[in-house]
This record gives sequence, C-alpha cells and structure tokens, in this order.
Amino acid sequence: MELTSLESEMLEGKYGRATRKAMEILVALGTIYSAEKMVPVSSVQIAGVSYDNLGEAGLGFLAEMADGGGKSRVLTTLNPAGMDVENWQALGINDDFARDQMRVIETFARMGVITTCTCTPYLVGNLPHFGEHIAWAESSAVCYANSVLGARTNREGGPSAIAASLTGRTPLYGFHLTENRKPSISFKIEAHLTENHEFGALGIVIGRKLEAAAQKPVSYIQGGGYASLENLKSFCASLATYGGAALFHWEGITPESFHLPAPVDQILIGQKDLEQAVSAINDGPSVEADFISLGCPHLSIQEISKIAERLQGRAVKKTFWITTARPTKQIADRMGYTQIIEDAGAIIAADTCCVVAPIKGRFKVLATDSAKACYYAYAKNNSRTKLMSFDQVIDEALK
Ligand code: F3S
Repeated sequence: MELTSLESEMLEGKYGRATRKAMEILVALGTIYSAEKMVPVSSVQIAGVSYDNLGEAGLGFLAEMADGGGKSRVLTTLNPAGMDVENWQALGINDDFARDQMRVIETFARMGVITTCTCTPYLVGNLPHFGEHIAWAESSAVCYANSVLGARTNREGGPSAIAASLTGRTPLYGFHLTENRKPSISFKIEAHLTENHEFGALGIVIGRKLEAAAQKPVSYIQGGGYASLENLKSFCASLATYGGAALFHWEGITPESFHLPAPVDQILIGQKDLEQAVSAINDGPSVEADFISLGCPHLSIQEISKIAERLQGRAVKKTFWITTARPTKQIADRMGYTQIIEDAGAIIAADTCCVVAPIKGRFKVLATDSAKACYYAYAKNNSRTKLMSFDQVIDEALK
C-alpha cells in the first residue's frame, strides 16, 4: 500500500506502540482488500462494547492499546454497553458484571473515546455529512450512515474501528469507492408502509433475497410511501441483520438515489410478503410476553415523547425497557417524560439494549417493534418473540 509520510511514521512506531499496532491492523486489512492507500476519516463508531461480548480477551486488547498510549485522533463514540452505566441495578445487573463493564468503559475513556454508548450516534452529535469518509462498526448505523446520510463506510470490526480511531485513517476499499456503491438489484414495493415493524418486515424480505445472492448486491428500492427517520433506522437494522447489507438506495428518500439509475429488472414486494415476514418471527397472539422493549435501534426523543403520552397516568404490568442514548434520556428527563414513564413502572435504560445486556434466561417472550431485536432475542437468548407495531407493544406492556 502507498502510505503518506505520517502513516509511515505511525507504522514505524514514532507515535507510540498503540498507534503502530493500529496502523499494522489497517495495513493488513488494506492488503487483504487490495486497497491502494488509506483515506482520512472524520468519525468512528466502535462496536463490541458490552462485557458480555468482549470478555477478558477483548478487554485485554483494549487495555493493551490504552497502555500503549493510544489516543483517538477523530470523534469516536461507542455502541451500547451491557448495562445502563448510571442505573444498572434497576435492570437487575449483578455487581460483578457492572464492575467489569465499567473497566471496559474506563479503558475507552483513557483513549479519549467519547463514552456515549449508542447505536444511533447520528442522533446525538456523531453525524457525518454526505460523502464524508468514516469508520463505523454497528451494522444498523453503518447501513444508516451509508444509505440515509450518504457518508462512506465499510462495516468495521471491533479492532479495525479502534485502529481507525487511533490513526484517523481507514483503508480505501469497499463502500469508500464510488464504483462499489452502484445498485445492481431493484425492488418495487407495492404496499404502503407506516409502522416501524413493517419497515423491519421489509428488511427481512429484501434481506432474505440478498442473502441468497453469491455476492452481496446493493439494492435500489422504489415505492412504499414516506419513511420517517424512525422508520429508516428500523429498516436499516433489519436489512443489516437479515441480509448483511451495508448500503441501499431508496428512490426519492436517500441522497444517492437522485443520480443513480435503477437496475431494470424489478422484484415486486407486496403486502402479503410483509405479512408473511412478520408472522414467521411472531409467536402469535396466544403467547403472553413477559418482557417488553422499545428502542432497537435506540429511540429518538420523538419516540420517547410518544411513549410518555401513552403511559401518562397508567401502570405497566410487565418488565418494560425503553432503550436510548444517554443524551436523549437527558432531554427526556428535562421534558418530564422520564418521570411519567417511571411513574408508570417502566424503565428508561440508557447506554444499553435488550440484546447486548446479559439477560439470557431471565425472560421467555419478548414483545418489540424491532425485527432485529427479534432475531437476536431468539439467536442469543433463546427467547420467543412478538413483533408488533409501536403502539401495540405499549398495549402489551399495559395488559
Ligand atoms: Fe442497537 Fe442493540 Fe438493536 S445495539 S440496533 S438496540 S441490538
């Protein structure tokens, strides 16, 4: 790879052990993907933050980078941790896990990483603009950044995202290159979508079709009606989960769709396809949920306000986690939403989510509006699932 003099000096160790190790990781990655050079990045988002996923081995790698003098060179935020770092007792997290999770957070803080733990960094100040090169790791956020914002990122792994943060660089390959962002498969939606779980269902239907292809194609989508920010984050999470996709274009909605031609052959997706996708991961009305969660991906303040409005003066009957980023919770605190929600018996859990928290075995059936949460509730926690609309999820908590 062609390196600038600064990059060569990083590789030679002029900026310390951790920066050298970081550059070694990036050069190895670039070599595998035949990148000709590095590209500067303006923003990094690191996944693999929950101690439940990292364990001592992962924490050991982080500590090695922090001890070696590693410091973030660009704005860097974290994916959700395994607990609310201020209110973990309310989530039933034990002391040992809490101590280990805080060791992880403190190690990131030593490297100058902003320890806001969220999968929607674009809602809380880590917001790249169109065409900007970034290095993000969380799959739903990668899909959102590439597609909805028009920024450019590959889906980074834990070590490569940390390496990008410590060097401010990433190898120039994959979705950083214009030629790899062109669509090669086209979908026409013949249904009118409004609810998050319907957008999640669409992610399942398209994702399954992409999964079947040998080389992951970039999708071009037409139809479906208006999509809000919340709808799109739900769709991105689902498409990334069920199809491994990191980029799509949606006519009239995503920025690159305006100057890219749609591939000619269209695959039609109708209401029935969406209903089938929902029912395939839905254990049905006769199954009683014992765990309710909204906030996969992390909730916007508009969504929290809607929950507060529905819960005002009422009492939930089941464990109900409302997961979001800490700065969003702080707005909810100020607006009085947190008080209303807590008075109803639900919990606003900041910094974490129902997938990365260590809750295996605690609940049998999850009710949520997130197709992604359903996938991992089953795969990771062996839980049954109910995929419903946002309002139906709240009704389920009140039942
Ligand atoms: Fe975010 Fe957790 Fe869902 S990281 S996308 S809330 S699984």
